[in-house]
Amino acid sequence: MIAGRYHESTKHHFTRFARSRGYLDWATQPYPFRRYEGAPTRELSRAPLVADVPYDALFASAVPPQPITEHAIGEFLRCSMGLSAWKQYGASRWALRVNPSSGNLHPTEAWIVHDGRICHYAPKEHALEERCAFAKADSKVGLLEGCFLVALTSIVWREAWKYGERAFRYCQHDTGHAIGALRLAAAMLGWQMQVLPEWSDAQIAAVLGLDRDVDFGNAEREEPECVAVVGRGSSVAPDALVAAARAGSWFGQANLLSPDHVEWPIIDEVVRATKYPGSRDEAAGSQDHASGCRSRAVPAPESRPYARDIILQRRSALAFDPRGTLTRDAFFSMLARLHPGETPFDAIDWPTQVHLVLFIHRVRDMTPGIYAYVRDPAVVGEWKAAMRVEFLWEPIPRTSEAGTVEPACLYLLVPIEGGPIANRLSCDQDIAEDGFFAVAMISRFGAPLREHGEWFYRRLFWECGLIGQVLYLEAEAAGARATGIGCYYDDPVHEMLGLSGQDWQSLYHFSMGVPLEDARLTSEPGYPWEQRQAR
Ligand SMILES: Cc1cc2nc3c(=O)[nH]c(=O)nc-3n(C[C@H](O)[C@H](O)[C@H](O)COP(=O)(O)O)c2cc1C
Repeated sequence: MIAGRYHESTKHHFTRFARSRGYLDWATQPYPFRRYEGAPTRELSRAPLVADVPYDALFASAVPPQPITEHAIGEFLRCSMGLSAWKQYGASRWALRVNPSSGNLHPTEAWIVHDGRICHYAPKEHALEERCAFAKADSKVGLLEGCFLVALTSIVWREAWKYGERAFRYCQHDTGHAIGALRLAAAMLGWQMQVLPEWSDAQIAAVLGLDRDVDFGNAEREEPECVAVVGRGSSVAPDALVAAARAGSWFGQANLLSPDHVEWPIIDEVVRATKYPGSRDEAAGSQDHASGCRSRAVPAPESRPYARDIILQRRSALAFDPRGTLTRDAFFSMLARLHPGETPFDAIDWPTQVHLVLFIHRVRDMTPGIYAYVRDPAVVGEWKAAMRVEFLWEPIPRTSEAGTVEPACLYLLVPIEGGPIANRLSCDQDIAEDGFFAVAMISRFGAPLREHGEWFYRRLFWECGLIGQVLYLEAEAAGARATGIGCYYDDPVHEMLGLSGQDWQSLYHFSMGVPLEDARLTSEPGYPWEQRQAR
């Protein structure tokens, strides 16, 4: 199985990192923004539309739906894939985005299909580039009733420039984060969003014009990842949109991001092997939201932050203050947000595969140690049997202030000061040790790939990205900060847990704590016009 082989050969080991150039070739650093030169550009509205939706409402399906207008679609994109800040250090200046990305390399591009047009989102300008206009006879096809489509693609070279062969994994994490960012922005506008299982990658490529060689020349190609329907209406069959796109008028030429490229054949192989063939029925089964440990997230009464503020202020911490602590109740609320039935996990349709191993360092009233958080209680037996026999598996219930006790699907495995272990396993990064807690996202691996096919490899990372996106926002809402951790030593994590073979694999790490700011960096808003806006 190519995905399995790719995964094995892109592991980091204590003695050797996954293959990459080993240095940064600044002469070929990719330009951060894809543009389609010559395509008509439509500037999106600069005025905030939903500034007063409370953060908790994102998870309660309680926001009245906004009408689907270009202004609302602009707000949706601004609050998911737009720029969040410009940073400067000395002569270097770079943009940050609302969605996070490994190494800030941003391989993920967003596309909108609406109103008889196929548009690429240009985040720097906050504008839509019109790639395709449907012919008049087809204009109804694009007028999807009560909804629109959003699609994601990856420019793998952006990540490969820095990370070499492991880059494909990061592109998939980033896609997962982007799905989460889009889903939560949709929730802020009162909209549903579902990734559509019936669309094959080839159909996505056809509709977005990714297969139009003539528009790319030497420019880096975009890989289709997924398409989702947004709104409260119904979608359109892929074939009808493919036909409309083929008959439409196309505009623009993709810009070249780097003057030269390094080939990584193993990435080309795994890209090919994991292409999604599409499904006329369900893709990978439906989610079964077991309720065995469904405790609710309870917002702190004194703080009612607005969703838009939290979404736009999200950043990765560069370092944590090792004195920072989190309350036990806030911690349990965060775990409750990761329940498969919650937003944004309702955007995906496969049964839960990813569970957490937590290194709890500084959560008040909790014994420091290594814990397991099982997102689907049905999996406890399977996971327990796969892990070290010495682990305690002591259930840790959630106790409310009123004294009620609820099961929380959290288990203490080993009471231990796990900071140095988390640090060492996460490529010796202090952020894994100095926060409240660090996470290893452990996924069922061999069985779902055998059951569904190699394309499912990408979805495992998407699920991790969704979990990460929720934790990023939860950190901000709790007055703290988080950081995704793609660099970790794969097999040493498995050895520590007693996991052998490919049944379970660690696919992503994460950490959260009180951030220490780097005072050398200066910061400006994502867009100059936002400097003048109130709030
Ligand atoms: C998949 C992924 C992996 C990451 N891995 C690391 C990491 O190993 N170490 C680290 O310090 N930051 C890591 N980050 C954080 C990124 O560097 C950060 O998202 C990026 O610089 C953009 O900054 P922002 O999140 O503040 O917008 C990771 C982020 C993502 C999404």
